[in-house]
Amino acid sequence: MSRMKRIAVLTSGGDAPGMNAAIRAVVRYASNSDAKLDVYGIERGYAGLINGRLSRMDGRSVSDTIHRGGTILKTARCPEFTTDDGISQAVKVLKAYEIDGLVVIGGDGSFRGMKDLYDKHGFLCTGIPGTIDNDLGYTDYTLGFDSAVNTVLGAINNIRDTMTSHDRACVIEVMGRNCGDIALYAGLAGGAEAMVVPEIPFNIDELVDKMRRNVLKGKASDIILLAEGMTSCEALKKELEEKTGITLRTVKLGYIQRGGTPTLADRVLAARCAVRAVDLLIQGKGGRVVGIRNNKIVDEEVGAALATKKVFDKELYKIATILGQ
Ligand code: ADP
Ligand code: F6P
Repeated sequence: MSRMKRIAVLTSGGDAPGMNAAIRAVVRYASNSDAKLDVYGIERGYAGLINGRLSRMDGRSVSDTIHRGGTILKTARCPEFTTDDGISQAVKVLKAYEIDGLVVIGGDGSFRGMKDLYDKHGFLCTGIPGTIDNDLGYTDYTLGFDSAVNTVLGAINNIRDTMTSHDRACVIEVMGRNCGDIALYAGLAGGAEAMVVPEIPFNIDELVDKMRRNVLKGKASDIILLAEGMTSCEALKKELEEKTGITLRTVKLGYIQRGGTPTLADRVLAARCAVRAVDLLIQGKGGRVVGIRNNKIVDEEVGAALATKKVFDKELYKIATILGQ
């Protein structure tokens, strides 16, 4: 058993639904479990850490937050933390507050920062994957992905109604940075006619042929889900209209996908990941990130986790394409 007495938690990078559920679980598990740890919340990610924006949290500070999107701790992108000086300053602050361990909730950039903190200064930290993008190879799902996809599904339903009434097609642009998972899963579950994702070579003529065939088949609307990492919805619309003569509309869903109440799946994932992240610290294990594989919570050395290539599920893409015909 380590002599861990006091830990801190922060959220970093883009926010994601489920981050609050994770903060709540970290705070309550750490303070209510046998270890009876003190917990500090750090505001605005690594920026707040460098600037000493820490405050004590207890079970009551996280009341009424489990269902809220965003992050009560706020988040930030902090270029200073990528420098040796920035990290050294962060370590000074952690020491001044007598913090023994840190839980970082964020994406790959946040994990790189955490890795530096551990590798260069031996500071114990654990990571919980929080990003809607689902772009981390070592875990099947990241916190926020399920909620974001469900938001996209709601949007597809609404857009489908009006597109069908007007016999139109629509290009819906979704987030995901360079990862096509939001487009893939929303496309499969929302019955999209096509998904344009960075992982699959895109042939505009094939899509044009498909849209023409869909008209002949009597399909009243086409939903084309476009992952933001490919091109813009306006550019794709223009090209498709020129080549098909079909009337198209565009919707860029944007930040709607990043807000909103977390789904059941994200709340459960948040709780399970938080417990493992805190347990690792209690056991004196740092430099590890938590994830889920085959519905089992796993933890892995952060460098190895970051080096794990994200594999796009081509089989699922094939199924979605067949079902969308
Ligand atoms: P995400 O964690 O969602 O991928 P970012 O890539 O913006 O978001 O990273 C969040 C923060 O993590 C950055 O603002 C920075 O403070 C820190 N960070 C990112 N990359 C590195 C790096 N290579 N080394 C150290 N810290 C990093
Ligand atoms: O990483 C989450 C994400 O929402 C991406 O899907 C998107 O590309 C990016 O963040 C947007 O970042 P910003 O908040 O800086 O506009």
